Amino acid sequence: MQSYPLFRSKLHILKNLDELSSELAETIVRIAVSAVNNRGKFTLALSGGSTPSSLYSKLAESKYSDRMPWQSTYIFWGDERCVSHDNADSNYRMARQSFLDKIDIPESNIFATTGQDKNPAEAAAGYAKTLVEFFGLSEHSQPSFDLILLGLGPEGHTASIFPGSPVLNASDKLVMSVWVESKNADRITFTLPVINAARHVIFMVSGAGKKQILPEVIRLSEKENVRLPAQYINPVAGALEWYVDEAAASELNWQKLKGLVG
Ligand code: 6PG
Repeated sequence: MQSYPLFRSKLHILKNLDELSSELAETIVRIAVSAVNNRGKFTLALSGGSTPSSLYSKLAESKYSDRMPWQSTYIFWGDERCVSHDNADSNYRMARQSFLDKIDIPESNIFATTGQDKNPAEAAAGYAKTLVEFFGLSEHSQPSFDLILLGLGPEGHTASIFPGSPVLNASDKLVMSVWVESKNADRITFTLPVINAARHVIFMVSGAGKKQILPEVIRLSEKENVRLPAQYINPVAGALEWYVDEAAASELNWQKLKGLVG
């Protein structure tokens, strides 16, 4: 693994998705154990799409699962498609099949979004209420997740925050429902203040399909202007890391990066 310090983040490049998933699973075990030792629990918000399923499958392997504090791990979703839990597009379904159904975690530790297939706005409000109750939030305060996992879309979206999204300007909501024209679908998503309040935010980016967008969104310095949703991810006090494979990193400006090797 080659690591590079970027502007307020760190970039890790791994050979392929399997090695990326193994390295990231190891990192998640480390973050989880530290969170439970220091604060008695590990709060994790999952990302959706297709990339993370190999990571989630690793977490169910005994090499990692046996070291995970599942009894003190609390699972949330950073975003969800507005479909039922048994729909092939459901991020909840993907996580259940990839690892949640294979590990010894109390069902009461799993906080799925509900009702999004019937009324997205109500589902978003209900999930926000779940966050308020779980984290004991007062008005205008944010939940401090120990780790939020994110993916990167080919046009620079992350979670379900797409270019031009009203979520980009939402400062007073924890969770929002949005119509995504490009997907012809409703989604619900954490807002930027929730994501940026996390102790650790990790992007997982894999494949040649992301080689054009990755150089667009990672910021080597403060000079790069912020224009794509993934660039709005800038934890207030937490750590931001990128775990990418060589295929996704193949168009990065190596001269610039070489100067950064720390
Ligand atoms: C979702 C995700 C979304 C995803 C990116 C990348 O619900 O789709 O949360 O933000 O991470 O679209 O998706 P892939 O991993 O499938 O490329």
